[in-house]
Amino acid sequence: MASESDDRKSQLDDLLNNRSIKEEIDFLVERLNRYNYEYHVLDAPSIPDKDYDDLFHTLVHLERASGYTPPNSPTLRVGAPPLDKFDKAVHSIPMLSLDDVFSVNEVIDFDYRVRETSEISGAAYTVEPKYDGLAVELTYEHGLLTRAATRGDGTTGEDVTQNIKTIKSVPLSIAGDDIPELIEIRGEIYMTKADFEELNTRRELNSQSLFANPRNAAAGSIRQLDPAVTAERKLSITCYGAGIIKGVTLSSQTELISWLNKRLFPTPYLFKSASGINEVISYIEKMDAERAELPFNIDGVVVKVDSFAHRELLGEKTRCPRWAIAYKYRAQQEHTRILDIVPSIGRTGVITPVAILEPVAVGGVTVSRATLHNWDEIKRLEIRQGDKVIVERAGDVIPKIAGVLSHDAASDAQVIEPEVCPECGAKAVREDGGAVLRCSGGIHCPPQRQGRIIHFVSRAAMNIDGFGEKIAVQLFENGLVKDFTDIFRLTKGDLEKLPGFAEKSADNLINSINRCKAVTLSRFIYALGVRHCGEFVSKLIAENFETIESLYGVKEETLNAIKQLGQITAAAASGFFSDKSNISSIETLKTLGLTISNPDYRAFADSHGRGKFTGLTFVITGTLPSSRREVEGLIRNAGGAVSSAVSKHTAYIIAGQSPGSKLSKAQALGVKIIAYEEFMSILAD
Ligand code: IVH
Repeated sequence: MASESDDRKSQLDDLLNNRSIKEEIDFLVERLNRYNYEYHVLDAPSIPDKDYDDLFHTLVHLERASGYTPPNSPTLRVGAPPLDKFDKAVHSIPMLSLDDVFSVNEVIDFDYRVRETSEISGAAYTVEPKYDGLAVELTYEHGLLTRAATRGDGTTGEDVTQNIKTIKSVPLSIAGDDIPELIEIRGEIYMTKADFEELNTRRELNSQSLFANPRNAAAGSIRQLDPAVTAERKLSITCYGAGIIKGVTLSSQTELISWLNKRLFPTPYLFKSASGINEVISYIEKMDAERAELPFNIDGVVVKVDSFAHRELLGEKTRCPRWAIAYKYRAQQEHTRILDIVPSIGRTGVITPVAILEPVAVGGVTVSRATLHNWDEIKRLEIRQGDKVIVERAGDVIPKIAGVLSHDAASDAQVIEPEVCPECGAKAVREDGGAVLRCSGGIHCPPQRQGRIIHFVSRAAMNIDGFGEKIAVQLFENGLVKDFTDIFRLTKGDLEKLPGFAEKSADNLINSINRCKAVTLSRFIYALGVRHCGEFVSKLIAENFETIESLYGVKEETLNAIKQLGQITAAAASGFFSDKSNISSIETLKTLGLTISNPDYRAFADSHGRGKFTGLTFVITGTLPSSRREVEGLIRNAGGAVSSAVSKHTAYIIAGQSPGSKLSKAQALGVKIIAYEEFMSILAD
């Protein structure tokens, strides 16, 4: 063993001294950061995802081999350990708030004050959307991101550096030449409407409470002590301001934004310089008409004096500057009456009360149903049939009841929380601390089965091209696809009989299904819809388990040994892969032609891409806390071999309870004897 490790060490030294590896790493880091920007900021990737993943893995291997990881390497985005609490982060220049205005007249007043106070004639402004998220400050010292802090009370926030680094559109370093000595960049963290919907659907599947809106989801995600959780959430950033700037001269908002753009920072969508207040007003009106269609929520427009020198002249009040205002759009609300309150079951099994309304037009859309959140909310607001209420539409989100105007005194209708699922009749149970009412029917409940299928075929899962939600529902409703194994039993003939399908479209769908039969393990785990296993966790598991079979019957503690994988997730995944019916579905998929490869696998692989146990033979004796098969899998995954007979070539014998004669033989031969726990700790080391 000693010679083996000496050998490895000297190879490592060779690598370390090899300058070309460093150069290769720097080159890869720069390229990957550029690809990241194209994908996450420009939404225009120039290489396929698979090529990106391959380059990323090469980088991981080279960094491990050389021990050299540049501080802006994309490999550093995840992997920081959970914190006990956030450190305080004091802002060197306070992060101010903005005065809100709600009318064009107030905008005109602002313009008047600006021009009067500063004696600036024809002040130039900038206009940009007011993103509905939370403000942060990113500190770059000599071009490197060294701290990220929330706004907090404006003076002191929280240090959330590790979490911010998981956001792919946040540059870890400043690109280009003339790097400033210090720059504090300010911006807004937010979640797009699509990413918010996806997150909530996922949370429903996992019986977790739902976020009320994208802003809460973004704020909740940034304030996670475990960066692995933040990494699971899809967050975005837009950069619109600066604190201290040293080493570069920027004299206006326009200059700042174009400087940021050149250095690959995301900046506000439709940022514009406006020469006078009329242009500002028409921008506000245009944005109001467009805001429902934007991919993210905005709650107004921020109007800023462009020139930094002019801002200096105008100064600030205690909490807000005199050089900027926020024009706030009002939420779109209308009044109407509740005709009925009915339970509605979602695809994830949650039973929500839905108000059937007297139809009313809200912002140009007729609304006749609105969600009432949960059953406690009804009790709290004492809402009943006949009540006059306020309905609200915020962006793309389903309309909701924002408040009660008056109770119908004559109504004696009572809203009764259902005891059984309205769809399948299974018992309705309270989950997630009692807030969520859920059908206990699981996959026996039709909407839930349908939900699993929709998730299975979706883009981040099996990614079956042309198999959208509509088709999934159609195939489910006419009984062709009752569970996801049926997808691979579909024939062209089946599809051709359906309305909307012609020979060509049927052919196309069958071809896409066939193409997806070769799937990666990480996508497959995600597609299975295992509780708490989002894309990030699925990938993490795939990195540590070579095959799907090695997950069958996996113990919670084996999964728990994976760094960054929490206990709740480990328990959920262990439960899923120990369930016979789940394993049988997976085996059925295999017989239907599904093949699972695992390019992500790199468990315990050392710097040479070899396993930790490469060249080592193990013998197991006695009963271990985990199954033999599982332990053997772990040894093989790490490159080791398992033998049934002890010899002088045996590296370790793992001894469990009531060991056999192998133990005494091992003692006689001087083979190292270790307990199961010792084995696990060597593996995790
Ligand atoms: S400028 C003094 N620009 O709005 C300058 N803020 O109500 C203050 N916000 O705390 C910030 N979009 O969280 C600015 N384009 C934008 C913004 C924006 C959203 C938020 C920010 C700020 C709050 C003030």
